Amino acid sequence: MENGSLPRHVAVIMDGNGRWAKKRGLPRTLGHKAGTENVRRIVKYCSKKGIKYLTVYAFSTENFRRPQDEVGALMRLLIQYFNNETDELKENGVRLNVIGDISEFQPKVREAIQNGLDKTKDCDGLVFTIALAYGARAEIVRAVKSIIDEGCEVTEETVSKHLYTFDMPDPDLIIRTSGEERLSNFLLYQAAYSEFYFTKTLWPDFDESEMDKALEEFAKRDRRYGGV
Ligand code: IPE
Ligand code: IPE
Ligand code: MG
Repeated sequence: MENGSLPRHVAVIMDGNGRWAKKRGLPRTLGHKAGTENVRRIVKYCSKKGIKYLTVYAFSTENFRRPQDEVGALMRLLIQYFNNETDELKENGVRLNVIGDISEFQPKVREAIQNGLDKTKDCDGLVFTIALAYGARAEIVRAVKSIIDEGCEVTEETVSKHLYTFDMPDPDLIIRTSGEERLSNFLLYQAAYSEFYFTKTLWPDFDESEMDKALEEFAKRDRRYGGV
């Protein structure tokens, strides 16, 4: 594949952890654990491939509605991820970034996240963004409110610059695993001209070869942006 057809920004809706566990007769929590392990594998692979931005949807504003046990288990996994993975991320030059409203998270979760962000802040390789307590509608409302507060003019440009993603290009490719074909409130504004790739593969099974399939498919797409 030519490098010119490599997406600069890949975004992933990591879905199917629960079904992955169910298929094996395991509790959903173990599906989330396997999903977290897959995050490590895919981040490494994208970094190696030379992708500049990888954004993953890990916890939506709507996911707070899940049973308390499951939300608690996800929070513990997040703490573990930020505590245990950031040294390796740093070694690989990966800069961590978080989008969403994590003020809803418990202080110990926020603290682990902040430590991870601080540790990798000077890295200049892959920018790895995790969407946490993220919802695109809330993001747009927040952006418009801050534009009004600052007395700026409302334009496409100022809206873009007030989103959580103000310092990144729009996603070129959005992947969703597990067979669902919807955005579930992810990057609504930024996805205006993204290419979509849907696969039935469940997130914990989405390995390097699955990522290659998505990248190959992307390379074949004809992006016209409304032109001819
Ligand atoms: C995605 O897997 C992870 C989160 C939304 C946190 P799910 O937990 O949604 O898995 P399914 O969709 O129930 O299989
Ligand atoms: C979307 O998955 C959110 C994440 C992957 C974090 P969900 O499983 O929560 O979405 P729906 O409920 O199928 O739309
Ligand atoms: Mg799901």
